[in-house]
Amino acid sequence: MTPSPSDRFTFGLWTIGWTGTDPFGTPTRADLDPIKGMHKLAELGAYGVTFHDNDLIPFDATSQERELILKNFTGALAETGLKVPMVTTNLFSHPVFKDGGFTSNDRSMRRFALRKVLKNIDLAAELGAETFVMWGGREGSEYDGSKDFAAAFDRMKEGVDTVAGYVKEKGYNLRLAIEPKPNEPRGDIFLPTIGHALAFIAQLDNGDIVGLNPETGHEQMAGLNFTHGIAQALWSGKLFHIDLNGQKSIKFDQDLVFGHGDLSSAFFTVDLLENGFPNGGPRYEGPRHFDYKASRTEGYQGVWESAKANMGMYLMLKERALAFRADPEVQEALQYSGIGELAQPTLAAGESVTDFLADAASFEDFDANAAAERDFGFVKLNQLALEHLMGAR
Ligand code: GCO
Ligand code: MN
Ligand code: MN
Repeated sequence: MTPSPSDRFTFGLWTIGWTGTDPFGTPTRADLDPIKGMHKLAELGAYGVTFHDNDLIPFDATSQERELILKNFTGALAETGLKVPMVTTNLFSHPVFKDGGFTSNDRSMRRFALRKVLKNIDLAAELGAETFVMWGGREGSEYDGSKDFAAAFDRMKEGVDTVAGYVKEKGYNLRLAIEPKPNEPRGDIFLPTIGHALAFIAQLDNGDIVGLNPETGHEQMAGLNFTHGIAQALWSGKLFHIDLNGQKSIKFDQDLVFGHGDLSSAFFTVDLLENGFPNGGPRYEGPRHFDYKASRTEGYQGVWESAKANMGMYLMLKERALAFRADPEVQEALQYSGIGELAQPTLAAGESVTDFLADAASFEDFDANAAAERDFGFVKLNQLALEHLMGAR
């Protein structure tokens, strides 16, 4: 279970760099030098790092300072062999973003936010990133009366379309990935779930290069099923990137280690990512990115233990998921449950609605009571999954 770059595990610099500040307390750890963190991640077997502009470059850095920081950063990339598959923008820390970036009621703040993003797009392209994440943590409200929602969606569309249009104009090999979250830090955030984001993307002019970066905990904070969510994103051709972590039910965003929240859900997430849909279909090809926070009880030893734990959990779940699918008893249970049958179109090839309406066997002569006697065996199938998950098979 030793991670290696071919596993394509990536970490946000803000994850290992989180010093433990929360609304109730000051940092519990000293600042981490990002370069030192990169060396440590490479040593642990990670493939790459991701970052917000301000994880690396302070908000008020001069252009000379920025240049020097980037020089050191690219030097560390060369030394460690780490890649930068994703870059994102901090539109949430500075007070100027307190009412949002793209959807602030203040137009000058929106213009500033959009310029900050465009500048960061250039950097992302320069570093060879393929995905540019947009998490709108401050896009939202505490009070329903404080926003014109239609205008806010217009501004969000304007912002994302402008950025996507710029990417196309520049010919960058980048795709945008919206990261949904239901709340926190805003009372309610726009595009709170995968479903909301998919519907929004369908309204865009440049939506062909806009997809999703779903996060395990963010769907689970809303009581939703993460695996269902990423499955729909994948089916829609929109699963561009992924933030794996752990969350225990509906509460504040815990950002636990992957698998340390709902373990059986994590198993099916990995099963989908590694094995794909049982009947085939689109596959996720991107990096396995962890967006977690090492608990503030931990010192740096605990930070590195938790970074290792994310990769270890993933690899163990991958091994279990491969064994699950390879088990002949599981294959039999899958067959019994009708999983293969679900891939059969409901209408026959070439069958018209007229033909269908004339088919008495499907309705007039159909014995619903007799059909309802069917047993699906889902419980047995799930028990087999859990036996594999627990290493009992
Ligand atoms: C969260 C979010 C953030 C975003 C990141 C990318 O935990 O609320 O996941 O960590 O992923 O800011 O922009
Ligand atoms: Mn989160
Ligand atoms: Mn995230």
